Amino acid sequence: MSMQPASTGIAERTAQVIEDLKGLEGPLLPILHGIQHEFGFVPQESLPVIAEALNLSRAEVHGVVTFYHDFRSHPAGRHVLKLCQAEACQSMGSDAIAAKMKQLLGIGFHETTRDGAVTLEPVYCLGLCACAPSAMLDGDVIGRLDADKLDEIVAEVRA
Ligand code: FES
Repeated sequence: MSMQPASTGIAERTAQVIEDLKGLEGPLLPILHGIQHEFGFVPQESLPVIAEALNLSRAEVHGVVTFYHDFRSHPAGRHVLKLCQAEACQSMGSDAIAAKMKQLLGIGFHETTRDGAVTLEPVYCLGLCACAPSAMLDGDVIGRLDADKLDEIVAEVRA
């Protein structure tokens, strides 16, 4: 296997994702999702490649990446914890839950712990409103968050 500079690989893999998806109507979001699927995040180096292919400015592409909460600009930790911040969960105390979790992990939303264990992200409704406040850990939903469940989650991601 030949070793290439990382940035070369990113540009080439980005171009391939664009090639596969640019025929779609409104291709920017599918391409960004494709890039995130490919790399686990949307690398800065991908933005000019996308902008040029779609005839957009780099600022426009950057604006879309930052507008949608789904896109990460950095690699995620080994675990991804999403805390629901939408209305039903808000009314059941998701603000306090988020504040507590940030304190336990020592990071804010869109950040990853320094040991690389976990990335914390907000999410806007997991379809689990009846069990609010809700979260998703690595794709598994967790309802009725309380202090005990937060401790369990922290123990699990630190394990
Ligand atoms: S609002 Fe949180 S799951 Fe629906």
